Amino acid sequence: MNKRRECIMSSTPLFPIFYRTAELYMPGKIVFGLNSLERLPKEVHFLGGTSRALILTDKPVRSTGTPEKALELLKKEGFETKVYDDLEPEPRIEIVEKAASFAKSFDPEVIIGIGGGSVMDSTKLVAASFTNPGSLKDYVGPNLLKRRGRPTICIPTTAGTGSEVTQYAVFTIDGKKKTCASPYIIPDVALIDPMLTLTLPPPVTAGCGLDALSHAIESLISTEATPITDELAYLATRLIFNYLKRAYYKPNDVEARYYMSMAATIAGIPLCNARMVVGHSISQTIGPMYKISHGISCAITLPYIMKFYAPVVSEKLAQIAVVIGEDVSQLSLKEAALISAVSVKRLLEEVGIPSSLKSYGVPKDMLPKLAEDSITNFPRPNSPIELNKDNVLKILEWMYEGEI
Ligand SMILES: [Fe+2]
Repeated sequence: MNKRRECIMSSTPLFPIFYRTAELYMPGKIVFGLNSLERLPKEVHFLGGTSRALILTDKPVRSTGTPEKALELLKKEGFETKVYDDLEPEPRIEIVEKAASFAKSFDPEVIIGIGGGSVMDSTKLVAASFTNPGSLKDYVGPNLLKRRGRPTICIPTTAGTGSEVTQYAVFTIDGKKKTCASPYIIPDVALIDPMLTLTLPPPVTAGCGLDALSHAIESLISTEATPITDELAYLATRLIFNYLKRAYYKPNDVEARYYMSMAATIAGIPLCNARMVVGHSISQTIGPMYKISHGISCAITLPYIMKFYAPVVSEKLAQIAVVIGEDVSQLSLKEAALISAVSVKRLLEEVGIPSSLKSYGVPKDMLPKLAEDSITNFPRPNSPIELNKDNVLKILEWMYEGEI
């Protein structure tokens, strides 16, 4: 199973030639470093800002003091700056529209989102509303935006969603999650300061970290994966297995926070480019219905979708086992692939996340409806196994019992 290492030694290519043309979307700039928040005024200048900048956030993040610190840094450089903190988790479209009206009345040159995935997603939409007329509802779906919006800087305060580097913005219409997907909303600058994550409570650390792991692993499974997204996904997976437990049990461990922030941003790039498979369909179905956070609903899906896809992507899943340090030297590819699913399930339990669906109060007789909703509302043409109600129901039954 040390095939990759042998390849390096023998100068054989690490992976076969990829005959499709690969494209890769990323932010214009990624700024990553401890205390890199201090660089904010420089990045606003970099995007052409000379006088006015708007900070978007929510009240819980505002209470940490980070938006105020950003405000002071910008004021010191002579920027007229306002903080708008009326955003919300899983934002309703009306709330994003309200933020957009506020932003237009202030007319900032640069828009800065400071917060978790929901704040960053809202920021991306607010920026787009400056140059894309009509209601934001008109842009639900893939590639409907016509042009880039105001320049944006996204500053994550969690380590997981990867929104700072993606082309997605998720929001809620009539209680249902909807996604706007467009390269035009990839932030111009992703500014990642791992120090901002030191105050995250352990359950949030676990949920967000496992969301990032699901981005890495689901992207590997996707038919839209490329050699570039694969290598980034393996790297993120290795970092998460090395550092998530440390960040969970010792929140002030700067080294663990540093690598978890890095893993989340790295995993965001394959999320943006290779897209997700059935794990995120199930997660986006059960999450809002049973009030399970996005990260946790992705986490509890992950071991079982790995088992589901193992027959068609056994080499990649076996490689995950190698990357995270499992001894698979005596195992077949299929066995090694299953070991990686077992390792993910164990990681969930080690960071306090029950890994069976019945632990979350989901009634067993709802599983057929959940299967149906998952494939109807969140189809995945990039799934290497065609999804139907029966096979998604099978995954849900494994999840329910916690059966690998
Ligand atoms: Fe996610």
